[in-house]
Amino acid sequence: MKITKAIIPAAGLGTRVLPASKAVPKEMLNIVDKPAIQYLVEECAAAGITDILIITNRGKGVIEDHFDYAYELEQNLLKHPEKHALYEAAHNVADLANIYYIRQKETKGLGHAILAAERFVGNEPFAILYGDDVIISESRPVIGQLIDAYEKYGKCVTGVKECTTEQVMKYCTLDVTPLEDCIYDVHRVIEKPDRDEILSHFAILGRNVVTPDVFELIRNTAPSPKTGEVYFSEALSFLAESGNLLAVDFDGKRYDMGSKLGIMQANVEVALKHPEIGAEFGEYIKKIAEKL
Ligand code: UTP
Repeated sequence: MKITKAIIPAAGLGTRVLPASKAVPKEMLNIVDKPAIQYLVEECAAAGITDILIITNRGKGVIEDHFDYAYELEQNLLKHPEKHALYEAAHNVADLANIYYIRQKETKGLGHAILAAERFVGNEPFAILYGDDVIISESRPVIGQLIDAYEKYGKCVTGVKECTTEQVMKYCTLDVTPLEDCIYDVHRVIEKPDRDEILSHFAILGRNVVTPDVFELIRNTAPSPKTGEVYFSEALSFLAESGNLLAVDFDGKRYDMGSKLGIMQANVEVALKHPEIGAEFGEYIKKIAEKL
């Protein structure tokens, strides 16, 4: 079945980037001139996804405003022919996809947030993009790379990259065997492993394509005794243990917009390639680097 639906969980507290995320959702923090979540919606649209459910919570209404028309602003820009490109940049965001919203009423973890999407998804396979993981690809959008693997093998797919030991211990580790270039069979997933539990340096970085069976698996997942959160990786581990999970080592650069370092890395790298400011910013960075 063709994949046309995606969900973007964006209801986390964003404590790692406080105080920036106190009144502005971390998914709305910018990379040069666009908020992080716009990169995700553009990635979905470029991969053929037409319907996106964004899972929000209290205080995140500004996400809805961003994907709506801004009538007064746009009318004003339209009066000035030299501002037409700006009008298009502001206006077209609202037409990238059909966007729906639902609130996760309590912040009980990523798995719990995904459960809120059950009625939206119905009986169709769907994509999941974590709201603070921006992945920029020079080739096919990363969620499209996962959809290709899903369509070829008919199994759920998670997006992975090799990470450092420290990152793996913060994210998760996967037991894998190679299937074909960049695609692996996954046998097990462990969330936040101790050093001696590490199965490989592949960790899941913010992209999945799954079937609706996943909701039952999430419901069967007990909250973590340490944090009280329902981890989504447990449901992925159930899928892996039943032979129904592949990993795609995707082609793309991922930025963790939920961390201060990730935000800065994203801004520097995107700015260096930006058609308007790239050259000047490059000169500036070179000068700064001389003094390091
Ligand atoms: P994170 O673990 O990075 O989110 O979740 P967080 O809780 O905001 O992070 P910190 O530790 O407090 O800084 C990854 C994604 O899952 C969403 C987040 O919004 C983020 O996009 N999420 C997380 C939810 O939607 N609901 C939750 O209960 C937790």
